[in-house]
Amino acid sequence: MTDLKPARVLAVETSCDETACAIIENGRALLSSVIASQIEIHARYGGVFPEVASRQHVLSITGVVEQALAQAHLTLNEIDAIAVTQGPGLAGSLVVGVNMAKGIALGMGKPLIGVNHLEGHLYSAWVYDSPLRRDEPGDIIPPEPQFPLMALLVSGGHTELNLMTDHLTYQRLGSTLDDAAGEAFDKVARLLGLSYPGGPSIQEAAEEGDSHRFNFPRAWLEDTWNFSFSGLKTSVLYEVRELQKKSNSLPVPDLAASFQQAVIDVLFKKTMNAAREFDAKEILVAGGVSANRPLRQIFKAQTEFPVHIPPLSLCTDNAAMIASAGYYRYALGHVSQLDIDVLPTWPLS
Ligand code: KG4
Ligand code: ZN
Repeated sequence: MTDLKPARVLAVETSCDETACAIIENGRALLSSVIASQIEIHARYGGVFPEVASRQHVLSITGVVEQALAQAHLTLNEIDAIAVTQGPGLAGSLVVGVNMAKGIALGMGKPLIGVNHLEGHLYSAWVYDSPLRRDEPGDIIPPEPQFPLMALLVSGGHTELNLMTDHLTYQRLGSTLDDAAGEAFDKVARLLGLSYPGGPSIQEAAEEGDSHRFNFPRAWLEDTWNFSFSGLKTSVLYEVRELQKKSNSLPVPDLAASFQQAVIDVLFKKTMNAAREFDAKEILVAGGVSANRPLRQIFKAQTEFPVHIPPLSLCTDNAAMIASAGYYRYALGHVSQLDIDVLPTWPLS
């Protein structure tokens, strides 16, 4: 799309445990991105502690916004619109970002744009590092995703397939009936005594493991585009209990590799089938679990559909993706009122 108005959007993201701010030009060129991670604080609880996350956002947010402006060598006067994650997410966390964004929008007289966090994850595939930030000036700009697009969103809170027929236009085909894929990674990691967040720990342990050693179940849920991962998680639990009866030490790499392969098989095959069924031109994979190396490899290895998977830095929560989605909302006339409230359970479609 070339006829949308040019604009610089500053976005704030505080839906979970990362305090983030980023600035994007014309929806795609990333001028700056700052993320204050709370992972170390929450790791000791084995998951995100909502009250602590909210307080930490309050402490970090001002510095994070200032840093994003400084990195881009811009002042608030040079920003055209303020985007913010309005939901879904933890209410106490979302409130901090929304209030900061409202304050800037009101104080500077700029439009405010409430963005759905899931929409943000999908738009991470539009973002590229602007020449100002690129290490290698010769890097090519990645192609823009083309509609109709089959979008697999796999994060800690959501797993769903959406057909995206145009900007901001989604048809949800199916979603998880129980655990999200990332949640399954986190729960199984805990079972195996691996650290939080579980996705990267399982991926690392699996590198040394045999993915064929344990034949864990795949919930295909034929004739639907839904997913289910709780049976798989329970199956790992039973296997762990059986193994513990026989020995003091668990074959963690083999368990991790076999579990990971079961998740990947289902995500990959269902997405490919949906893309064929709905005549998608391309595939998009986004959300925290899209950082998973073997998952990225299997999608990139197929040649039936061009596939867009964001760079690792944009897979897990960040504000660049919110700025990109915010730009398209702004350019297409979807501006929010200053009295918007947080929407902790806001679905994408
Ligand atoms: O998108 P995200 O940062 O937050 C949500 O919106 O939920 O996703 C976080 C999830 C966590 O469950 C984490 O374990 C998972 O993404 N994750 C991974 C990997 N990196 C992060 N899962 C599998 N493999 C990875 N490399
Ligand atoms: Zn997320």
